[in-house]
Amino acid sequence: MTVIPSPAPPPGPFSSCAPEDVRRVACVGAGVIGGGWAAHFLARGYDVTAWDPSPDAAVRLHRLIAAAWPALEQLGLADGASQDRLTVTATLEEAVAEAQFVQESAPEKLGLKRDLLARLDAAAPAGTVIASSTSGYPMTDMQTQAADPGRLVVGHPFNPPYLIPLVEVVGGERTDPAAVEWASRFYEVAGKSVITMDREVPGFIANRLQEALWREALHMVANGEATVAEIDASITEGPGLRWAVMGPMLTFALAGGEGGMAHMLDHFGPSLKSPWTRLEAPELDRALYEAVVAGCDEAANGRSIADLVAERDRGVIDILRATGRLPRTAEEATR
Ligand SMILES: NC(=O)c1ccc[n+]([C@@H]2O[C@H](COP(=O)([O-])OP(=O)(O)OC[C@H]3O[C@@H](n4cnc5c(N)ncnc54)[C@H](O)[C@@H]3O)[C@@H](O)[C@H]2O)c1
Repeated sequence: MTVIPSPAPPPGPFSSCAPEDVRRVACVGAGVIGGGWAAHFLARGYDVTAWDPSPDAAVRLHRLIAAAWPALEQLGLADGASQDRLTVTATLEEAVAEAQFVQESAPEKLGLKRDLLARLDAAAPAGTVIASSTSGYPMTDMQTQAADPGRLVVGHPFNPPYLIPLVEVVGGERTDPAAVEWASRFYEVAGKSVITMDREVPGFIANRLQEALWREALHMVANGEATVAEIDASITEGPGLRWAVMGPMLTFALAGGEGGMAHMLDHFGPSLKSPWTRLEAPELDRALYEAVVAGCDEAANGRSIADLVAERDRGVIDILRATGRLPRTAEEATR
């Protein structure tokens, strides 16, 4: 996978060890994202402790990891990687007591994140970096109650964290920049592609872009302009194919022909003023809610969520392979 290199930070004061020497990771909150992180870290050969207050969390977590494992085997497991290296603990304190890195993936509620990060800070070994998976809260708003806010960072993944390489890393006003540097390096060592942001932006980078598309899609459903299936096809059969290879900027540079982005801007710049986008979020009333949910059920056409997860995982691996982020052949793998 593509890794954006950053210089190795010196060990400490963040964490008792260098990012390269981490062996034990704690995942707190073990739903879709926490479970996906646990699967990723296990596949990379770490010992993982997990805690989640839900009574059925352990069962769900094991099920999620078992479902992800075939994809992880295809990606290539680290030496010694095993699902048996997961320990689900009865308390948060046990989960983080010996952790060398903590990934928090609890529900996206500001008060809950504030309390939880303060509890994690109180329970984790001094100096252990604690990262939040938050989709959009600035760390400045979440680190208000922690005794040592300096070690709290955002490490924002994409679903599923065991397959999508990107993590956006950013600190808050009270985060020590050395903790951000340590976390970025740790994620790289753990096989992720990292963008380290030097300032806080609500929604970070990718979610600002995804959100713009999502709002527009909801407007189109609300207005009866396109069905859920048409919206999905417009991306998977269209721009989505290009975006897996190049981002929206370079993709549009090529739309300018030999004149590149300059011609693109000259040619289509005036269209920016045409009413192509609405951007204000639509009212998520019952009718829109039901139309979107029913449209997705129809689009699934009898496939269960588990079927769709397996299909998505196969597809993403094929794309990673086809675009050279994974070896295409056994020969390439040994090169
Ligand atoms: N779903 C996504 O695509 C996605 C992508 C990137 C980031 N995120 C972020 O990841 C985080 C988790 O989202 P999710 O989609 O996994 O949600 P989820 O609902 O699937 O999982 C949340 C889990 O947290 C547990 N939980 C509840 N209260 C808790 C507490 N006090 N302490 C610890 N755990 C608690 C729940 O039992 C549940 O298992 C959120 O901050 C979300 O914004 C989600």
